[in-house]
Amino acid sequence: MKINASRFCFAVAILILLGVSASSSLAQDAAATYKTKCAGCHGADGKGNPTMVKSLGVRDLSSSEVQKETDAELTGIIQNGKNKMPSYAKSFNTDQIKGMVAYIRDLAKK
Ligand code: HEC
Repeated sequence: MKINASRFCFAVAILILLGVSASSSLAQDAAATYKTKCAGCHGADGKGNPTMVKSLGVRDLSSSEVQKETDAELTGIIQNGKNKMPSYAKSFNTDQIKGMVAYIRDLAKK
């Protein structure tokens, strides 16, 4: 069988497009999830909902204090919870948790 080069390029382009849209929709998912599940305590910008900062001791997610924690530590806290921080191991899969960690890293860049 002769390989049709243009068809092959087309297939590669489609795969790349699919890959790009899948990863950007993951990022969008993370932003949407953060807004609905996390912003109530952590604030839309990660600095913490002022009431929750006072009552629960929420820390600024964009602060160097939190950012110096490793991805594994942040992942562990999101999965297992910590003090008043709820555990999300049951409601999130590993990709979603990875997305949340990436989102928290992005908060520090804003
Ligand atoms: C009910 C309020 C509440 C909600 C909802 C909540 N958190 Fe938290 N979170 C906390 C509190 C309180 C802490 C501080 C825990 C501690 O260190 O005592 C915390 C800590 C964290 C930390 C560790 C940072 C640190 O202070 O060391 C991460 C990461 C985090 N939360 C991510 C998330 C993500 C992602 C979501 C949404 C999926 C979320 N949280 C939802 C209350 C909340």
